[in-house]
Amino acid sequence: MKIRVTINGALYEREAPETVNLLHFLREYVGLTGAKEGCGGGECGACTVLLDGRAVNSCLVLAAEVDGRSVRTIEGEVRDGKPSALQQAFVKRHAVQCGFCSPGVVMSARALIERNPKPNVEEIKEGLEGNFCRCTGYVQIIEAVLEATGQEPSIEERSHA
Ligand code: FES
Ligand code: FES
Repeated sequence: MKIRVTINGALYEREAPETVNLLHFLREYVGLTGAKEGCGGGECGACTVLLDGRAVNSCLVLAAEVDGRSVRTIEGEVRDGKPSALQQAFVKRHAVQCGFCSPGVVMSARALIERNPKPNVEEIKEGLEGNFCRCTGYVQIIEAVLEATGQEPSIEERSHA
């Protein structure tokens, strides 16, 4: 079937099987490989993208479902060759180690801060609860989101992270 979808502000039109999921559509039919396949079953969040502004696990969404809609991926965080302030905060706070989870974590954080520009630690934890990170640890990730939203994490907040 023909799928027309706006991705990171640009319109794409691709022929793809009805059974292909959004993650594979992005990676194999559009060439955007930022979203990663971890579990492939909605458990890890590595494949998170925004669909009409809402964070979704792209492994659980059929590409056919996004026809006529708007998708944002980690590639859309980069403007004029520069990483977004959110991505820069992840680097500054050492919130990326192997990086496999990072595209999904950043996109969940993006969705969170668009609906809540100054989330507190608990809200950040809730916003990222579907994203697993096996190597960095969540303290740095929470700090990165605080940093990106103009907040400084306190010692007390860190002790509860
Ligand atoms: S690959 Fe989609 S949630 Fe794990
Ligand atoms: S940075 Fe390695 S899994 Fe999160």
